[in-house]
Amino acid sequence: MHGFSKNNAFMALQDSIQTLLEQVQTMKASNADEIEALRIKYLSKKGEITALFNEFRTVPSDQKRELGQKLNQLRQEAEGRINSLREQFEAKHAEAERIDLTRTPDPIALGTRHPLSLVREEIVDIFSRIGFTVAEGPEVEDDKHVYGMLNFAPEHPARDMQDTFFIEKEIGVQKPTDILLRSHTSSVQTRVMTSQKPPIRVLCPGRVYRNEAISARAHCFFHQVEGLYVDKNVSFADLREALLYFSKEMFGAETKIRLRPSYFPFTEPSAEMDISCNICGGKGCSFCKGTGWVEILGCGMVDPNVLESCGIDSKEYSGYAFGMGVERITNLKYRVKDLRLFSENDVRFLKQFESC
Ligand code: PHE
Repeated sequence: MHGFSKNNAFMALQDSIQTLLEQVQTMKASNADEIEALRIKYLSKKGEITALFNEFRTVPSDQKRELGQKLNQLRQEAEGRINSLREQFEAKHAEAERIDLTRTPDPIALGTRHPLSLVREEIVDIFSRIGFTVAEGPEVEDDKHVYGMLNFAPEHPARDMQDTFFIEKEIGVQKPTDILLRSHTSSVQTRVMTSQKPPIRVLCPGRVYRNEAISARAHCFFHQVEGLYVDKNVSFADLREALLYFSKEMFGAETKIRLRPSYFPFTEPSAEMDISCNICGGKGCSFCKGTGWVEILGCGMVDPNVLESCGIDSKEYSGYAFGMGVERITNLKYRVKDLRLFSENDVRFLKQFESC
């Protein structure tokens, strides 16, 4: 009876070993998690093979030898299979991850600088060499900073809806409003003059808006750089010197300038400045309409009323101001004929500035 039951345990264990051996020999896994799951299933503390080893203790010692060998074989087979699955998986993984350091890289398409940015930066750079720093202000402004403090009469036509975009306070309700999109960056000058004490030497680059129909020659937004210098004894001669220096730096040492009397509400006297046509060198061509000159900016001595409205004593201080369109300067430098090209973001246009 005793012998029979021992024999039974032997047989049962032998069967289990055989079943597990078959399972182990055909086991498959496709990733690291599955391999680990197999290890846990068979070889961990609570694994099926470990369980057989526990059962093995109950086998009578005279039968242990044969079964022990089988059990050890099973465990080795399981360990071996799991290791080789792991190796296969790691090799496959490494192949996928392999980096060929000798391979030439795919070309990266580089973006290009926008011509208006290039020119704006060049203007800022030139003036920064004679002590100007950059000041910025909001594009959505109030009437006071854009017109009121700049000596515009209340009925001045620039305030008309034709030129200025006013902002409705309530959507769809066109009540009179004093909030608008700035139509020039002189608004930044009023902000600087009210918040800083002279000497003031600033450049105000930025986008401005005017209610114009879009065409090759006009746009509802464009870019300006305006300059302001306020100190004791600033004279018109200082203004002329600064502008001559700028023109030569920007368009070449042979460039000449000419100032023509003009009118702006915020400067007195006021002038418009021409440079000798940089396309024909002043001989006269279709670009300068045969005159040899092209207009590039407006300028003048800051009107004492403007200084006073900003809290600066006009008896102690004087100043000059100038303002130019960045599109106009870019047009002269790069011969861009149609203003719309600047805002269409057509890569065929932008690509041409790749090396600039
Ligand atoms: N603000 C003027 C404009 O937008 C330009 C300007 C600036 C003229 C400063 C004179 C002095 O046209």
